[in-house]
Amino acid sequence: MADNMENLEKNILDYETVALDIEKYALVIIDQTQLPGRIELLSLTDLKDIWEAIRLLKVRGAPAIGVAAAIGIYLAAEQIGTDDPQLFYEEFRKAKNYLAGSRPTAVNLFWALDRMEQVVRTHLPEGTAEIRRLLQREAIRIHDEDIEVCRRIGEHALTLVKPGDGLLTHCNAGQLATVKYGTATAPMYLGQERGYDFHIFVDETRPLLQGARLTASELHAAGMDVTLICDNMSAAVMKKGLVQAVFVGCDRVAANGDTANKIGTSVVACVAKQYNVPLYVCAPTSTIDMTLGTGDEIPIEERAPEEITEMWYETRMAPESVKVYNPCFDVTDHSLIAAIITENGIARPPYKEAFRKLLPKPLPSAYNENINV
Ligand code: MRU
Repeated sequence: MADNMENLEKNILDYETVALDIEKYALVIIDQTQLPGRIELLSLTDLKDIWEAIRLLKVRGAPAIGVAAAIGIYLAAEQIGTDDPQLFYEEFRKAKNYLAGSRPTAVNLFWALDRMEQVVRTHLPEGTAEIRRLLQREAIRIHDEDIEVCRRIGEHALTLVKPGDGLLTHCNAGQLATVKYGTATAPMYLGQERGYDFHIFVDETRPLLQGARLTASELHAAGMDVTLICDNMSAAVMKKGLVQAVFVGCDRVAANGDTANKIGTSVVACVAKQYNVPLYVCAPTSTIDMTLGTGDEIPIEERAPEEITEMWYETRMAPESVKVYNPCFDVTDHSLIAAIITENGIARPPYKEAFRKLLPKPLPSAYNENINV
């Protein structure tokens, strides 16, 4: 389905970012590479297409990637052509490893896949029909829980700001990165419900423009007061006193509170520190990776040079043979983060101790093997 820009502004929030179509056995996503020009829903059934959708950022944002992977691996399990539990498990593991190779940084991908594998391991003696049923239930749970998690992040975040505040965000940690509300945008949506009248600055977020194309679109469509700025303008607006808090999302948080998020986040964090503006990282507990001691251990995705040199231009905007470095994420040092807001409460330094109190118990099995607490 496709729509024009006018319809996008009316309707973007009415579409589900990522969903399971139970009748068609399909993963349904909004193709985010087409936004803001077109709303195009994709209905994907094939594992290769789901891998590609994650890889090419048709579905993106850490929580949405996790939900897409959970639905994707469930659909793959439905297609496994054996009812022998051991052979089924082997095929499941192959499909899981394949999907896990789609993107490296957002830990939600691995968290969701591990959670789905846990279902298979626990219920292997019950046979493949029962496992498939339970995998569907788990995928739907992961989808539905995300809505509640984001809402709770929003409630906690809202206690840190006041009506009329100027807020700045980077990239898209919005509804389009989750099932609903977003993480960094959750306080904005909840604040809007309660008449907070925030003034929201959105970094355009080079090179893929998730801020301009996605965050500005969805917040504007929701009727919020949105001002789009280039990435290099955050100092200008903060120096003028127009920003009282920065909210960003994250793809992975290490045990010490170092946080990987979209490239440029650490620049915003340095600027915020300079102007005494608190920077809050909104992180579902599924994004906290206690197996990594510091942010130095977080794998950082690098993407194609063309995203910088030509993707948005009619003619190439750089010399043909120039070297290009295009890391997709950077790590913000925990010393630059005022607090990390989870669905279970607000973590403040020292983060390792704070996370220990906020993380669900028991931790998911995959994390128990190499835990850093
Ligand atoms: O490359 P992307 O668009 O997937 O990067 C997304 C981000 O960096 C988001 O800020 C992060 O995943 C948090 S989404 C709630």
